[in-house]
Amino acid sequence: MREGKTKKVEEFGSEVVLHFKDDITAGDGAKHDVIKNKGSICCEITGRTMKYLEEKGIYTMFLEYLPPNKLRARKLSMIPLEVIVRFKKAGSFIRRYGGNDGEDLPAPLVEFTYKNDELHDPLMCVEHLEILNITTKKIAYVIMEEARKTATLLKEFFDQKGLELWDIKFEYGLDEEGKVCLGDEISPDTMRLRRSGQIFDKDVYRKDLGNPMEKYEAVLELCRSIDL
Ligand code: CDP
Repeated sequence: MREGKTKKVEEFGSEVVLHFKDDITAGDGAKHDVIKNKGSICCEITGRTMKYLEEKGIYTMFLEYLPPNKLRARKLSMIPLEVIVRFKKAGSFIRRYGGNDGEDLPAPLVEFTYKNDELHDPLMCVEHLEILNITTKKIAYVIMEEARKTATLLKEFFDQKGLELWDIKFEYGLDEEGKVCLGDEISPDTMRLRRSGQIFDKDVYRKDLGNPMEKYEAVLELCRSIDL
């Protein structure tokens, strides 16, 4: 069984079972805590949002939700990238390029960062991806369009629920046929969700603003309108 910061992966032929742990981390793992039920909440949100995306024609790893904290999923050969789609300025975007929290971007922006804590997830251009053998330009452009489409569908979903999706991080892999597939997780750990100044995501934890699970549970409740 392989184990990361927040998930364990068990392989069964062409499938995997992902176990979502109760660990929460920030700052490349520098801040770390264990919060009861965090794994099950993020797991169920991932299952339901991926189901929603599948119904809208997005290819995802999701096969089945195994309550409370596991997902049966397609086995993927993961590409070590964090693919971020931004609708509004926040976080590392502001640290790099300036601007104010929550300011609109004129169009959805896709960024690639190399998934490597030691190097602090450096921002990458498509050129870096090919030269450093991370993936091909062709696949990078497929991922870019998939990410933009997927984030826009999720933004529409959360808009209907009265939450603003500011940004989101995706991870992609290749299935056995080499097709780009959405993997990993979709949860308040991996996106910024806001409602009139209220924070419903991991920034509650990053900035020590109280018990993050109250907000994560509220997001789950909204996602329960999606059948599993
Ligand atoms: O939060 P921070 O400023 O470190 O990073 P960001 O680049 O502004 O993050 C953009 C979005 O990607 C946020 O919704 C983060 O929660 C998410 N993200 C993530 O899920 N995992 C990472 N390692 C980095 C960002």
